[in-house]
Amino acid sequence: MNRLVVISNRVGPLNDEGKAGGLAVGLADALRQRGGVWFGWSGKTGEDGTFGPLQIKTEGEVQLITLDMTQADVADFYNGFANQALWPVLHYRMDLAGYDRRFSEAFWRINERIAARLAPLLKQDDLVWVQDYHFAPLGSQIRASGFSGALGYFLHVPFPPPEVLTALPDAHRLVRSMLAYDVIGFQTVTDRDNFARFVAGEIGGRVLEGGWIEASGRRVRADVFPIGIDAERFAAFAATAEARRRYAQLRTELHDRKQIIGVDRLDYTKGIPERLSAFERLLKDYPENRNKVSFLQIAPLSRENVKAYARLRRELEELAGHINGTYGLLDWTPVRVMTRGFSRKGLSGLYRASDVGLVTPLRDGMNLVAKEYVAAQDPENPGVLILSRFAGAARELSEALIVNPYDNAEMTEALQLALRMPLGERKERWQALNETVRKGNSRRWCGLFLDALEATHAQRRLKFLDESEGGASAKTELARLRRAAGVPPWGELKPFRGRHVRL
Ligand code: ADP
Ligand code: F6P
Repeated sequence: MNRLVVISNRVGPLNDEGKAGGLAVGLADALRQRGGVWFGWSGKTGEDGTFGPLQIKTEGEVQLITLDMTQADVADFYNGFANQALWPVLHYRMDLAGYDRRFSEAFWRINERIAARLAPLLKQDDLVWVQDYHFAPLGSQIRASGFSGALGYFLHVPFPPPEVLTALPDAHRLVRSMLAYDVIGFQTVTDRDNFARFVAGEIGGRVLEGGWIEASGRRVRADVFPIGIDAERFAAFAATAEARRRYAQLRTELHDRKQIIGVDRLDYTKGIPERLSAFERLLKDYPENRNKVSFLQIAPLSRENVKAYARLRRELEELAGHINGTYGLLDWTPVRVMTRGFSRKGLSGLYRASDVGLVTPLRDGMNLVAKEYVAAQDPENPGVLILSRFAGAARELSEALIVNPYDNAEMTEALQLALRMPLGERKERWQALNETVRKGNSRRWCGLFLDALEATHAQRRLKFLDESEGGASAKTELARLRRAAGVPPWGELKPFRGRHVRL
């Protein structure tokens, strides 16, 4: 098996400590199972920044290699370009995007630096897998350093329509740089199609059948690989002593009230104020819920130095205060907002103790919380998942109550329905959801992506060998890989018509 080298802005942890962020959770699950190298930012600042020493740690089969950044890098690259320009635009929020040439320069410079530090560690037969928006152009820098092996990229967040992405002054350069990869993975068909539209409409490329894109003399496979969780492990967490302790704490405090839970980084994409407003309306329009239902929002602080995040925190505190002031009783606080982190075992106990999982982002790449909520439920008495149609997970989890988070009345009705759903229907919905979450787990996500990467790269190699009249053994290898990943041979490429779901 070839060595896997993963590069992402956040690295680890591999254990079950609290960590807010789907990328870290999904990758930890995948890497723990397969082993490999995980390379990226240490999360710390140091005077030498990316020029400083590499910090190397080994945990089981995984080697974690990290670098510091300077304070200026964090301000301009991470808080600046990544989270004030790219993040809002990728989540369709042009209104919140702030663009600054200094941020943009830092973004391209840090990508160049990371590639320069990574290059000496790479072997030509490594499978190199770059993750997420922070490092979208890293592939082109890695290629420039002389690496010609298998190189893939996965975008954890949405890819918006070209009409939105073009608001970003670097959009064309960014997408062109992504053509250096062999395979580009997206969470949903919509994201993939938006990317294809950008390539065809903005940079004069061609979209071919079978997920292939051709532009600037490069042929890249762009496809859909929905990320999952290690569902079996997460379900087992719910039976641990720590989970049971959290479960008992929450249920004791509730008495016989029902619990609605939300778990999200404190981010404006998650639709938390909209959720609180729906809960307020539930108490107003359906008074039978007063003193009978509580709402717990776990919202660890995120990107606190970015203004939009600080504003959101204030808004949330005001809303919760308003609802509690209006409806609270001496022995009942309707809404609780907690910004602390929990261990993954602890979280699984809280999910299990909650009658309703309210996962209603305004826009989300996938949303692993939805999958965790399902995995943690008691099969004999499962809770109800309410899920936004704008979460990538809604494509797979259609047995949830699917809502439009902008429609306050619909959200309220979904809450009322969920709180009263009979056990039979809860079980039926949950069984279907649980099967999907178990099947589409992190192992499958990682396996499908790497199969596609190996096969695509082998095709490129074969084409090269064919042209230079070599390659019988590569052909045999390719035939094997083609069978494994179902990748069409070069000769079968046809013009792209309509949408593709390849999984
Ligand atoms: P995002 O990647 O945008 O943060 P996801 O829903 O995909 O959104 O992933 C969030 C991850 O962070 C989940 O695995 C969730 O369990 C974890 N998480 C969120 N809040 C906490 C918390 N307070 N303590 C520990 N983990 C958390
Ligand atoms: O999954 C989306 C994501 O943005 C990751 O890219 C990121 O690591 C995570 O959420 C948490 O954000 P941050 O790394 O900025 O804390």
